[in-house]
Amino acid sequence: MGKVTFISHDGESHEAPIEEGQSLMQIATSNGVPGIDADCGGECACGTCHVIVDSDWVSQVGKKSEDEEEMLDLTPERQPNSRLSCQIKVSAEMDGMTVHLPEFQM
Ligand code: FES
Repeated sequence: MGKVTFISHDGESHEAPIEEGQSLMQIATSNGVPGIDADCGGECACGTCHVIVDSDWVSQVGKKSEDEEEMLDLTPERQPNSRLSCQIKVSAEMDGMTVHLPEFQM
């Protein structure tokens, strides 16, 4: 089983094992990763699961939907590689991936 690393704004790192079919948000919340509140439960409606994907991994996480784009526009600290982690399905190919959390989600 692979893993994804979440790095908080203050540099603390947390790992979560990949569970295929789950979203990146779900593996974060089920492994106690701080800063992923996921207030809407994965409905692409809150923006509290915002992550910034390391540029090496952007092609691996797929494309954003229009709904995700619109929600990200409302999200503080949006960056070019910003994603909503509830909209990313994890797969074995993401083993070793690193994502960063914005300062807002400390
Ligand atoms: Fe609410 Fe992702 S959990 S937008």
